[in-house]
Amino acid sequence: MIGVFDSGFGGLTVLSALLRRLPEYDYLYLGDSARAPYGPRSLEVVHSFTREAVEFLFDAGCPLVVLACNTASAQALRTLQQRHLPAHRPDRRILGVVRPSAEALAGLAPGAIPGVTEPALTTGTVAVLGTVGTVASGSYALELAKLAPGLRLIQQACPLWVPLVEAGELSGLGTEYFLHKNLDPLFAAADPPSRVLLGCTHYPLLLPLLRTMVPPSVEIIAQGGLVADRLADWLQRHPEMERRLSRKRTRRYSTTDDPVWFARQGQAILSTAIEVERVRLKPFVG
Ligand code: DGL
Repeated sequence: MIGVFDSGFGGLTVLSALLRRLPEYDYLYLGDSARAPYGPRSLEVVHSFTREAVEFLFDAGCPLVVLACNTASAQALRTLQQRHLPAHRPDRRILGVVRPSAEALAGLAPGAIPGVTEPALTTGTVAVLGTVGTVASGSYALELAKLAPGLRLIQQACPLWVPLVEAGELSGLGTEYFLHKNLDPLFAAADPPSRVLLGCTHYPLLLPLLRTMVPPSVEIIAQGGLVADRLADWLQRHPEMERRLSRKRTRRYSTTDDPVWFARQGQAILSTAIEVERVRLKPFVG
């Protein structure tokens, strides 16, 4: 079973792409809606919440967990991979979304070897839109500097976009105002971005509106498809993990908050009715 974690229901935009690209596997999704949003929280808190979430998914039988959440990937993944797994779960793996997204932003195809394959984009400007926590972590800047040091990166925090999506405000004058507020400075600059990455699980739900506001020549990259393509490639290169993943096409959904509300949000994203279980996450005692 593949575990997929997000701070809330937004990660279902990533899960939906995984189900299309890799339907044969079993999936367990966890959304920590009771404690979302993670975006404005401190690094220590995001790390501790994320560790509880991956431990829950490991205990439930997932050998592999994908952090669909950008904030968790940006702030907690590295430490979990380098410290937590070797000390407590040496046989498990956690993957995040920052590195694969940075590769896509630079124009590296799935399977390309960073440092050997030249990325398609080596100069010019690209942008990442994300939460305050994702931008503050500097993770995208770090990854992109390794892949394509000549690329200029603009990072734009969009603190009100997640609350708008959570409130179901996907269109209308109020929403347009807040989208313009964060987008306009990017395109008013002398060297505007040619690619914009939606570096937050919730933002793809604003895509129809964003598309009408961003100049047509600018490519908008949503993460679901690219994460799914890169996970497929990763599994091919890691047969020892691929063999451990069960394949009965089961899909389970869990949340730390109201399962009825979560199921309603989920149905809108996945275009199918889902059953959701309410779960409690335990503090990690190492
Ligand atoms: N899931 C978060 C992300 O992708 C967005 C929502 C939140 O702030 O918790 O960064």
